[in-house]
This record gives sequence, C-alpha cells and structure tokens, in this order.
Amino acid sequence: MSYQTLCVLGLGYIGLPTASTFATHGLKVIGVDTNPAIVESLNNGKVHIFEPGLRTLVQAAVHSGNLVIKDQPQPADAFIIAVPTPFKENKLADLSFVTAAAEAITPHLKKGNLVILESTSPPRTTVDILLPILEKSGLSAGKDFQLAYSPERVLPGQILRELIENARVIGGINDDSAKAGKLLYSTFVRGEIFLTDATTAEMVKLMENTYRDINIAAANEFARLADRFQVDIWEAISLANRHPRVEILNPGPGVGGHCISVDPWFFVEAAPDLTSLIHSARQVNDSQPEYVVNFLERKTGKLNGKKITALGLAYKPDVDDLRESPSIETVIHLRDAGAKVTVYEPFDTDHSIEAVISARTLQEAVTQADLIILLVGHSQLKEIDPTELAKNTSARTVLDTVNGWNKQEWQKAGFSIYKLGDGKQP
Ligand SMILES: NC(=O)c1ccc[n+]([C@@H]2O[C@H](COP(=O)([O-])OP(=O)(O)OC[C@H]3O[C@@H](n4cnc5c(N)ncnc54)[C@H](O)[C@@H]3O)[C@@H](O)[C@H]2O)c1
Repeated sequence: MSYQTLCVLGLGYIGLPTASTFATHGLKVIGVDTNPAIVESLNNGKVHIFEPGLRTLVQAAVHSGNLVIKDQPQPADAFIIAVPTPFKENKLADLSFVTAAAEAITPHLKKGNLVILESTSPPRTTVDILLPILEKSGLSAGKDFQLAYSPERVLPGQILRELIENARVIGGINDDSAKAGKLLYSTFVRGEIFLTDATTAEMVKLMENTYRDINIAAANEFARLADRFQVDIWEAISLANRHPRVEILNPGPGVGGHCISVDPWFFVEAAPDLTSLIHSARQVNDSQPEYVVNFLERKTGKLNGKKITALGLAYKPDVDDLRESPSIETVIHLRDAGAKVTVYEPFDTDHSIEAVISARTLQEAVTQADLIILLVGHSQLKEIDPTELAKNTSARTVLDTVNGWNKQEWQKAGFSIYKLGDGKQP
C-alpha cells in the first residue's frame, strides 16, 4: 500500500516546504492553513516566508497541479499536522493549535488513514491528547488508522535540502503506525529513517533543543566569566574546542526562535521536580539581553539619551524569523535604559517596536548614531566595510555581540570596538 493523497495542516516554515516537497514527488497534496491571508497569498502565487529556494519549489508544486491550498482539511490518505506549538505568557505549552487541527481532521478520518504530528510537543501529547480527539471519529487508533509522531529537525536557511537529507525519527503509537510513517516519508527522505514509539520521538526532539540551549547557556556564562577575568571568550572557546570531545557553542545576546527558546519549557512544565538544570539554562539565556545592555553601559557609560543603532532583529543569521528574538529584547532594554534606539533588520524592514525607529536602509539607520550595536550575524551586516561606514555615520563606538566583525579592521577605520565576552578590552 502507498499513500496517494496527503493533507498538510499548517503552511509555515515547516508545513509549506513539506507539502511542496511531497507534491513535487508525486503526491496529491492539500495544503491547509487557517490564516486567510496565507491562503490568499499562496493562491496568488506569493510565498509569505523567506527560505532559499522555497518560492521556486512552491510554484513548481502548484503548477504541477499536485499542490492545492485550502482553508480547511479535506479527505486524504494521510494527514500531517505542522501547526505552531508556542508557549503562553506563563511559559506553559499552548497546544490549542494542535487540538484544533486534530478536531478539524477527525470528521474526515477513514479506515486505513495515517495521521502524523510534526509539531514539537510536550512528552505524551500524541498518546494523551491527539489520540483521544482522533478516536472521536469512532475509529480505533493503531487499528483502523495509524498514528505517529515525527519531529522536524531542519535548519532554517537550509530547509529544502535538510528535509530530504536529514535522518528522520518516526515514533508510532504501535509498530504498524511507525512503519506506516516510514512508508509515507520514504517518498522523498534520503536520510536514514529510525522507528521508535511516539513518546520517545517526542522526547528526542525536546532533548536535542534542550541540549543546545544548555550548551549556549554555558557559553554565555563563560562569556561573563571571561569578561571578569580579562579573557577573550572567542579565543578561549576556539582553543577549548580543539579538545577532541568538546564542542562549546557561541555566546551572544541570548537564544530565540520558535524552537530552542521554547522547547525546554515543555520539559520544565511536564516535570518541574526533575528539571533544575534545564530551568537554569533557560534563565541564563533569557537574562542575556539584559546582560548585554549592562555590559555596554559598563564599557561606554550611561545610555540615557544616547542615539543607538541596533543592527539585526532576527533570532539568528540570514533568516527573516523574529519570533522570541533576544535581539528584540535587547532593543527593548536599550530603550528602557533611556537610549534613543534605531533598528535595522535587512530581512524585515517593516517590523516595529514601540518607541523605536525602524530604518529601511543601513545608511538611514547609522547616519545620526552615537553608537552602533551588532545583534545578529547576518552575512550582509558582517560584510560591512568599516572604512565606508565611517564616512556615513557620526558613531565612533561599536559593540559586536556575535563576533561578526574584525577588531583590527574596525580600529583601523577609527572605531572603538567592544566585543561581548572580550574581557581583554578595557
Ligand atoms: N521553524 C522551524 O525551524 C521548526 C523546526 C523544527 C520544528 N518546528 C516545529 O514545527 C511546528 C510548526 O512550526 P513553524 O515554524 O512551521 O510554524 P509557523 O508559525 O511558521 O506555521 C504554522 C502555520 O500553521 C497555521 N495554523 C495554525 N493553526 C492551524 C490549524 N488548526 N490548521 C491549519 N493551519 C493552522 C498558522 O496559520 C501558520 O501559518 C512547531 O511546533 C515548531 O516548533 C519548527
């Protein structure tokens, strides 16, 4: 048996590339999103997110007739749920999108169907939350229809390649469900496919991101220590990483995005008595924007009244994704310290933050500045020529929070340059 038709719920960073890739590999795909603006723009040939190669892929999928975009699910052989799983104000998981998607599938469920949850979810979501909703159809999970969890591990910026090449974990509520999942993803996945149970697969995804969060929290604490002990953290980490079994990630203004800054909280919520390390790592990374602003104040004096230009708002380099971005938090702290802040985010010049100026060009952003701060290592920001910049700005002091700029070059161009974690710079 093979799957001919697929319904993908949620056409965001994960769902849209997934739906399009299945469609260009021959499946008839119904892409569903509850946001009417997204449905409309996709139906008009516009792709609402930036991801290299995605526009071409979506257009190919639509032109082939294999991808249609709808606002509600329709009957299909298989269903993939790729809706958001954010947290609420209190850091508790918001599973309302997952339950809404499951409720929407239930009336269409038939014998022989397969349902896969791809959204990153707290442990036991598939068996304790998804399964009972789907069984309201009167069908029995694992018998009449198959049910599995398969986490997505793609790297934004390289989603299209990684979707196909990455190893994939598929956790079924029973063996048949896991095997059914393998049959579906084998349509295009070239990486190894590993089968397990649903809760293990959920934990795998959360463990991967929690591990990275803890590693970055350590790097951020090392940066604070380096500052105190007159050490350059960037040099120290590169030397420590020459140890064959050490791989310390980079410090920076914090951790953001839809995944690493969110997923560890699912563990903390599910088992607060067992997660003191995970919780502490989250607190370290969440406090890093404030640390950056204090660091800047210590190095350059009171920020009140200073004109500060912040370069980059995205949560990581070369993407347009601003969700949970620590750069935005840093800008808010700068503003609250009394600075007159201008921001320039090359991937999203429309984003606005209250009482902060958004510049549409680099030139506009820097002209009047007293101080420039690099918050995201976007390629185009790292490539700024300090000699050229010096001609267009009144600023002569810069802070690099991501080790994106060469200290000597900036000094030669006449700037005082501070780097986060560079305790050698007085
Ligand atoms: N973005 C990543 O790099 C990444 C990587 C791995 C895992 N994930 C996980 O994948 C899931 C999706 O993330 P994303 O980045 O694609 O989110 P996204 O916000 O970009 O897209 C989700 C889409 O789902 C739509 N939606 C919400 N409720 C819906 C419903 N009931 N039916 C149909 N559509 C609905 C939204 O309108 C939105 O367009 C999340 O759980 C996330 O944690 C994301």
